[in-house]
Amino acid sequence: MQGRGVYIKTFGCQMNEHDSEKMLGILSSKGFIEVDEPKKADIIIFNTCAIREKAEQKFLSSLGKIKYLKKKKPKLKVIVAGCSAQIQGQALLNRIHFIDYIIGPDNIDKIETIVDNTDETKQIILDENPFIHLIDFPALRQNKVKAWVNIIYGCDNFCTYCIVPFSRGKERSRPAENILKEIKMLGEMGYKEVTLLGQNVNSYRDQDTDFPKLLERINKIKGIERIRFVTSHPKDLSERLINVMRNCDKVCEHIHLPLQAGSDKILKLMNRKYTFDEYLDKIYLLREKIPNISITTDIIVGFPQEEDEDFEKTVYALNKIQFDGIFAFKFSPRPKSPALKLKGHVSDAVKSERLTKILKIQDEITETKNKDYEETIQEVLIEDKNEEGVIGRTRTNKIVKICSNIPIGESVKVKILKAFRHSLSGEIL
Ligand code: SAH
Ligand code: SF4
Ligand code: F3S
Repeated sequence: MQGRGVYIKTFGCQMNEHDSEKMLGILSSKGFIEVDEPKKADIIIFNTCAIREKAEQKFLSSLGKIKYLKKKKPKLKVIVAGCSAQIQGQALLNRIHFIDYIIGPDNIDKIETIVDNTDETKQIILDENPFIHLIDFPALRQNKVKAWVNIIYGCDNFCTYCIVPFSRGKERSRPAENILKEIKMLGEMGYKEVTLLGQNVNSYRDQDTDFPKLLERINKIKGIERIRFVTSHPKDLSERLINVMRNCDKVCEHIHLPLQAGSDKILKLMNRKYTFDEYLDKIYLLREKIPNISITTDIIVGFPQEEDEDFEKTVYALNKIQFDGIFAFKFSPRPKSPALKLKGHVSDAVKSERLTKILKIQDEITETKNKDYEETIQEVLIEDKNEEGVIGRTRTNKIVKICSNIPIGESVKVKILKAFRHSLSGEIL
């Protein structure tokens, strides 16, 4: 018998991408197969993101496009999962009647039972799940070389702009033994790289295993060659962690350390719990201990009450720190987040102007940073193929294109020949 088809569309961060892999894992153990078009599906899942208004608009527009299918195929089930599902809940169902199920990020395990429901009752599952961090999900991973692994769920930081603490609930660390077991299995299966996932990996703790200890334990696992993690909160990045990063040979020389803004006034309004100088000290320490480390960041422009002089401090920060890359966003007011109610919102025109300005400044910095790689020898893990050859990454997370047919999953020494803004090109030695 042919399996039932599931079409899944994912929005948002790696956490959501991995949640989709987990839902697909559960469904494939029930005989479902993934299909590449909504019209071939028996169930359609939208795994949504609520971080900025734009992410929600993208989801709503995709949802609109499948309305006609629901009329043609009355048995088709439409499931909305993820952060937007959690935030909007019943309101979403009231607006869009053809949705069958709404499940929050804490309840992806429920997908197992709801797909077998034959009645027409609509269901909303949004309760906080006190056990999610204890479940070992059978993820169906898309990539065969690198794997995402959850280590901590939820977030307790309550940055004032952010919706995540409301969509993903309280912070809960996954038991270290479960994490190690999963990574051991990945190593045996031939995976070469793991990326540890959490909104704030630095606050990981399971009894006496904190984040640095966890890294040390993962570093011993056979088969795994590279360890990465996202995201680190600057307030929790300790010198001990930096030492462990330096001493563990598998931990890659890259950190994503969101700064958000260069002005202390704005950082305070954002509830980030560090000043710019404190952040800068951590950058100096990282570069002192791990000289070739690449550092990337997130920036928000146009936070409420951001005056020109505050924005100029962000510009100063970029010039001073010289990040390897940044993700920059216009502040988007989110429901439930305290920043929504702050006075002094910035106009969209000013936000756009500021965004354009910092992206331009950073483009030049990124290019200069990449130029430093020319003529150097880098260890590259081959991750993918394209028409011209293969694509891999350096330990510092730079994309390298190589004209070669070397198999995916190999680690090779590469001489970097040319640097571009978003990638490097090189030849295998
Ligand atoms: N937990 C991670 C990632 C959070 S979301 C962290 O703390 O860094 C990723 C990024 O989206 C954030 O770093 C922030 O720069 C951005 N972001 C979050 N909420 C936003 C909002 N309301 N408007 C604009 N950007 C936002
Ligand atoms: Fe959001 Fe801040 Fe938590 Fe990151 S640390 S998820 S930005 S509240
Ligand atoms: Fe990720 Fe978006 Fe939720 S960024 S945590 S999917 S709001």
